[in-house]
Amino acid sequence: MTEPRDRADRDDGLESEVRRIVDDLSLDERLHLMSGDGKWLRGNLEMAERYNAEPLVAGELPRHGLPGIRFTDGPRGVVMGAATAFPAAMARAATFDPTLEERVGDAIGVEGRALGANLFAGVCINLVRHPAWGRAQETYGEDSHLLGAMGVALTRGVRPHLLVCVKHFAVNRMENSRMWVDVRVDERDLHDLYLPHFRAVVDEGAESVMSAYNTLNGERCGQHHHLLTQVLKEQWGFDGFVMSDFTFGITSAAKAANGGLDMEMPFRMHFGRLRRLVRSGAVPGSRVADAAARVVRAQLRLRGRGEPARYTPEAVACPGHRALSREAAARGMVLLRNEPVAGAPVLPLDLATIRSVAVVGRLASLPNIGDLGSSQVHPPEVVTLLDGLQAAGTAHGFEVTYDDGTDPAAAAAVAGAADVAVVVVGSTFRDEGEYLLKAGGDRTSLRLRTADEDLVQRVARAQPRTVAVLMGGSSFVTDRWHHLVPGLLMAWYPGMEGGHALADVLRGAVEPQGRLPLTWPASGNDLPPFRRFARRITYGPLFGYRMREATGQRPSFPFGFGLGYAPVVWGAPVLAEVGDRPGDDGRVEVRVRVELTAPAGRDAVEVVQVYVPEVLGTHPAPLRTLRGFARAEVPAGTTVPVEVALTVPPGAAEVLVGPSSDPDALVVVPLS
Ligand code: BGC
Repeated sequence: MTEPRDRADRDDGLESEVRRIVDDLSLDERLHLMSGDGKWLRGNLEMAERYNAEPLVAGELPRHGLPGIRFTDGPRGVVMGAATAFPAAMARAATFDPTLEERVGDAIGVEGRALGANLFAGVCINLVRHPAWGRAQETYGEDSHLLGAMGVALTRGVRPHLLVCVKHFAVNRMENSRMWVDVRVDERDLHDLYLPHFRAVVDEGAESVMSAYNTLNGERCGQHHHLLTQVLKEQWGFDGFVMSDFTFGITSAAKAANGGLDMEMPFRMHFGRLRRLVRSGAVPGSRVADAAARVVRAQLRLRGRGEPARYTPEAVACPGHRALSREAAARGMVLLRNEPVAGAPVLPLDLATIRSVAVVGRLASLPNIGDLGSSQVHPPEVVTLLDGLQAAGTAHGFEVTYDDGTDPAAAAAVAGAADVAVVVVGSTFRDEGEYLLKAGGDRTSLRLRTADEDLVQRVARAQPRTVAVLMGGSSFVTDRWHHLVPGLLMAWYPGMEGGHALADVLRGAVEPQGRLPLTWPASGNDLPPFRRFARRITYGPLFGYRMREATGQRPSFPFGFGLGYAPVVWGAPVLAEVGDRPGDDGRVEVRVRVELTAPAGRDAVEVVQVYVPEVLGTHPAPLRTLRGFARAEVPAGTTVPVEVALTVPPGAAEVLVGPSSDPDALVVVPLS
């Protein structure tokens, strides 16, 4: 991870201007900078009708030429207007491709600016400790390294155009009880496992941090002096501003201001008391001046940033951004099974022989692009999975028949009459998402609905060439039925072009190359404790693939796993370089190299993953931890060398290299 940037060097002249402006502000003006500008009643009514249709403004001071913070939510795209709906962040995580995520960030930045925003609050990097978390879809999975890499990439893409806010700081990963749950975490677990990805994004230059609703070890995150002031601002050198999560983010103005919160969003509620608290000495005036300086600094940082010629109404959901959404969706889909039927793998579809495809399942014709919470994007249209397959049928000469699966016997008959069946099942906003009146919340089960499990089995019995396509934002327990279908593909919430992306992958125009950003457990019992309406919960050091190793459980599909159509042959990985000087954190840089060969006749894609056995947090034994990865494109019939750079702790003896976290697939590379 990078060192905290030296802001003074980079911002020459900025600090004196910040000081000049803040010195010139009255107490009321300083306090004005510390909360959203909207009026409570009107603002709530507007948000209830259509959340974030317009930028949410905070701290506008025309006298000083300060435009205010103009907030748009994310991360599925820009929530305002009718913007491009990208695949959910979890789908993008599955690409294991920070370069692609940076391009998505660029498109989001351009659209946000074109729609009048200047801050994007869509870098959501909470770690999925349990796959039932309703908002897993908004983030990048269970691994801190991947979360950091993708969060940094999104930040890098957005920042040339907008300020960036990273959220929810910290340990927010339970939805239904998010407003009150007290999360107990040992300080070592917090620093080793739950915070490093936030540090990476802060070091990348995020100008804002949104605090979480939950409490951490007894104190609300928006009022947490240790978290906000000691760790974020003092240890990490963060000189941006901390905003509260919306409306219920804090309970005490004095605790929040003194704890390090700089802005109450989206309205002035508790912070309406700040003037009195400053007058009485309960909140020092210097703290208010510091908060004001932070909000001014962020606004000044935006000056001169950007490429105005790109911020036109036509840029919003333009063909180029839609094509990017399609590319990201296709590349994020994860092929989990591809078994032979009559001697050849069921996928890709052989369009020379296939004349008819039966599409089954209600989700196939639903614009199913994620939940209806604060990350909901409103694209001008959504290409459903059925739309995409029908368009491909027209273009490539196969017929598509559709049955929504309401009557499983009828659906099985339709499937049996075709050459291939694609059965679409999984989650919608009703099963998972932000916990709002509309629906969503944490999942009640990690399995498919019973009716969906039944439908898949019936279709598979009627049609040997059955491909199950799953939609959702997290992992599923599939043990009851996955062995019955030769083809299994996770499509996530694939954005506004998802149907075209699915067709691209099924017919082999795009190589399946997604890798799981979270473990798919063999059973719901193989997981850390989770209660939807918990008052208190302890987050320990074990979750995800590290928990699998510690407890010796075998998942159905491991973290990092995904198949391609073109099997890649791996050479023996070797150590290419070991750094001779440790960094400030004591870690040493190493480079690992491996040669990959693609079969003749088909380009391949592989994600080389490097795991390091490390003692982290309170768990006493070393467990394999992802520390580096590299996605490689390997042209048909060629061999390409791939290098992965990573850091290892002092004294590390070996690293493990392979195509997933599956121990059987990892090769040990000694470090000496
Ligand atoms: C969510 C945030 C979101 C905010 C604004 C909150 O309920 O937790 O992620 O940015 O609302 O709507």
